[in-house]
Amino acid sequence: MKNFTSVNDVPNIEKLVQDALNAKANPLKMNDLGKGKTMGLLFFNPSLRTRLSTHKAALNLGMSVMTMDMDKHGWKLEFEDGAVMNANTAEHIREGAAVISQYCDIIGIRTFPTLTDRKQDYSEHILNQFMQYATVPIVSLESATRHPLQSLTDLITIREHQKTERPKVVLSWAPHPKALPQAVANSFLEWMIAANMEVSVTHPEGYELSPEFAQNVPIEYNQKKAFEGADFIYTKNWSSYNDYGKILAQNSNWMITPDKMAVTNEAYFMHCLPVRRNVVVADAVIDSKQSLVIQQANNRTYAAQAVLKNILT
Ligand code: CP
Repeated sequence: MKNFTSVNDVPNIEKLVQDALNAKANPLKMNDLGKGKTMGLLFFNPSLRTRLSTHKAALNLGMSVMTMDMDKHGWKLEFEDGAVMNANTAEHIREGAAVISQYCDIIGIRTFPTLTDRKQDYSEHILNQFMQYATVPIVSLESATRHPLQSLTDLITIREHQKTERPKVVLSWAPHPKALPQAVANSFLEWMIAANMEVSVTHPEGYELSPEFAQNVPIEYNQKKAFEGADFIYTKNWSSYNDYGKILAQNSNWMITPDKMAVTNEAYFMHCLPVRRNVVVADAVIDSKQSLVIQQANNRTYAAQAVLKNILT
């Protein structure tokens, strides 16, 4: 594997899941693999889980780690070719990415969408320029349209808990006071399709995802009906794709509550975190024995470790 920016970079996802489960069983088994190599973690946006779990994964493989908050400590990067840089950008991506490649053997990048310019966001304007001008492998730590490390984690967690060969997995929109990216939802569908899950999506009208990611996944606009017989409820808020980056209405009745979970097949509750309690999900659901959120967060380390292992080898 050269880069890891989407499921399309993965030759065999079941092998990658198995690599992650092997790493979980024995995290330090390959702690010489990355000896003398350096992982660079570049953040244009905040993070708790991605930052710490990817750092831990690299340490488990014997790598050194350097982290930089690009929005706070880096020179402001210019991404336009031919720009006359006489305003507030101080360093061009051409030099920036090439220079970071001198110090790092793998570069991880987190770069959220603008949520104002759909064309630019969905072209992965920033991630693709890092890929173009870096000379070492790139790992997405969440880009404008995808969060593949999260999706791999989610698949691992489902594999650990599924009771049938093809469980019913429902991606449910939930309310949130701020406009959030579509990346986690996009990516989740992409990985669930690739893993041949029985996946469906439920959201209020107007929150349809990009056709590139929604594909032929069934949509049910009645949330409780969608939950019937589900084995996994994966919850996430996202802003509108069609009315790009907008919150259309608060829809507080879409919060995940015990009465909705009651119509499922004793479904597990999943969320990538961070989550706003009693807005996205009721305490009684996230604190229930069916909640997998902490196990998911734990699996972030082993997902990252499997990805780094495959890149290093
Ligand atoms: N789930 C996730 O990516 O968490 P962070 O934003 O804290 O990294």
